[in-house]
Amino acid sequence: MAKLKLAIVVGSNRRESLNLKLAKALAKLGEGAFEPSFVQIDDLPMFNQDLEPNRPEPTLRLKREIEAADAILIVTPEYNRAIPAVLKNAIDWASRPYGKSSWAGKTVAVTGTTAGATGTAAAQQELRMIMTNLAGVVVGGQVFITYKDGMFDAEHNVTDETTRGFLQGFVDNLARIAGKLAA
Ligand code: FNR
Repeated sequence: MAKLKLAIVVGSNRRESLNLKLAKALAKLGEGAFEPSFVQIDDLPMFNQDLEPNRPEPTLRLKREIEAADAILIVTPEYNRAIPAVLKNAIDWASRPYGKSSWAGKTVAVTGTTAGATGTAAAQQELRMIMTNLAGVVVGGQVFITYKDGMFDAEHNVTDETTRGFLQGFVDNLARIAGKLAA
């Protein structure tokens, strides 16, 4: 069976992002089911309706990449108990123009990591609320990851067996649901 196209959006524009590390580990755990690609969001201009009649190329690229995907995985940090502006900006751009949202009908899963004990729970709650209004299906489950040094090795493997099993279950569940909906 052909692999599902998975678009991965990381809600951090930081080079050493912990969420990018988590996203790469998830991409590796999912490589049996998915053909993953990372969606660039750090070059999008700040959303402004005045730009819509002549949309900048990076915003069109974003829409193409979301629309081509069978599933979307959003891996986000939490900034002040909410999602970072860079992620909200990308969500807004891809939701436009009105009536032509790239999120429509899509299967979306969300997770995220922070060194903090709550594991991005507040940001994910907000993200779920946003995506429930935009996407076809927002996959259920609570994947709040408290980051620990050494959690991922240089080859993007999850070092702890229990955490690896938990994350594998998350990826497998996304593949199962996205596979059914894509069929
Ligand atoms: C944070 N951080 C943070 N952490 C958290 O668990 N809850 C929060 O509300 C916040 N708020 C917050 C605001 C701002 C402006 C910054 C810069 C940081 C810490 C955050 O989790 C940490 O910097 C992560 O490493 C960011 O994710 P990436 O960039 O490593 O993926």
